[in-house]
Amino acid sequence: MLNDRVAVITGAGGGIGAAIATRFAEEKAIVIIADVIIDAAEALAEGIRSNGGRAEAVKVNVTNKTQVDEIVSGIVKKYDRLDILINNAGITRDMLGMKMKEDDWDMVINVNLKGTWLPSQAVMRPMRKNKWGRIVNTASIAALGNVGQVNYSASKGGVISLTRTLALELARSGITVNCIAPGAIITPMLEEVAEEKRKEYLEAIPVRRFGTPEDIANLHVFLCSEGASYITGQTIFIDGGLSVGV
Ligand SMILES: NC(=O)c1ccc[n+]([C@@H]2O[C@H](COP(=O)([O-])OP(=O)(O)OC[C@H]3O[C@@H](n4cnc5c(N)ncnc54)[C@H](O)[C@@H]3O)[C@@H](O)[C@H]2O)c1
Repeated sequence: MLNDRVAVITGAGGGIGAAIATRFAEEKAIVIIADVIIDAAEALAEGIRSNGGRAEAVKVNVTNKTQVDEIVSGIVKKYDRLDILINNAGITRDMLGMKMKEDDWDMVINVNLKGTWLPSQAVMRPMRKNKWGRIVNTASIAALGNVGQVNYSASKGGVISLTRTLALELARSGITVNCIAPGAIITPMLEEVAEEKRKEYLEAIPVRRFGTPEDIANLHVFLCSEGASYITGQTIFIDGGLSVGV
C-alpha cells in the first residue's frame, strides 16, 4: 500500500511512533525513525531491517530548526524525495493551570506545537516539487479539555488548527494534511498517568478497553495511501468512542 514511499516519523523510538514505523515497513515504505533518543530509534531500525524491512534512524530534536532542516535535506539528497511526514513526537508536563511552571508550559508548547510546524515547513518544498505528499499530525482527546493538562491541551488544540490551515495552504500541491487525535493508548505516556485516573478513563471509554499503538498506526497507513487523497484538513479521534459523549 505504501510501496517505496519515503516516510519520516518523528518520536518513533517508542510508543505509538514505533508502531507506525513497524506498520509502514510492513507496507513496504522506506522508514526514517527520527527521535531525540537515538539508541531506541536505532534498535527499532535494526529490528525492522532484520525482518526484511527498510529503515534507518536519525537523531533530531523537533524543536531545533537547524537540525530538522538538515535531516530533511539529507533525506531528500539520499532518496531524491520525501513523501510522508508523521509528526508524532510529543511530551506531557502535567499540572493544574494555577500551579504550572512557566518552563513546563514552554517545553510542552515547543515540542508539541512548534515541533509539528518545523518538520512540516521543512518538507513542503520537496513535497511540492513532486506534487505529492502526506502529512499526518498528532493531537489528543485532551484538545477538548482535560484537568491538569492546560499546556498539553492547548498545544494539541493548536495542532488541530495548524492542520486545518496547512491543509488549505497545500491543497493545490497534491499534499494532504490530516490529524489523528488518540484517546487513552497503552504506551509509556499512559503509564505516567496515576492509577486512579487510568481506572476512571477505562470506565468512561464506551468500548471498555484502552487503545493500542496499532489501533492508531492502522489509520496512519490509510491516510498516507493513494486512496485517501480526498481527505484533508481533518482530525480523526481514535478513542473507543470516548469523545462522542463529550
Ligand atoms: N499514549 C497516549 O495515550 C496518547 C494519547 C493522545 C495523544 N498521544 C500523542 O501521541 C504521540 C505519541 O505518544 P506516545 O504515547 O507514543 O509517547 P511516548 O512518550 O511513548 O513517545 C514519544 C516519543 O517522542 C520522542 N520525543 C520527545 N521529545 C522529542 C523531541 N523534542 N524531538 C524528537 N523526539 C522527541 C520521545 O523520545 C519518544 O520516543 C504524542 O504526540 C502524544 O501526545 C498519546
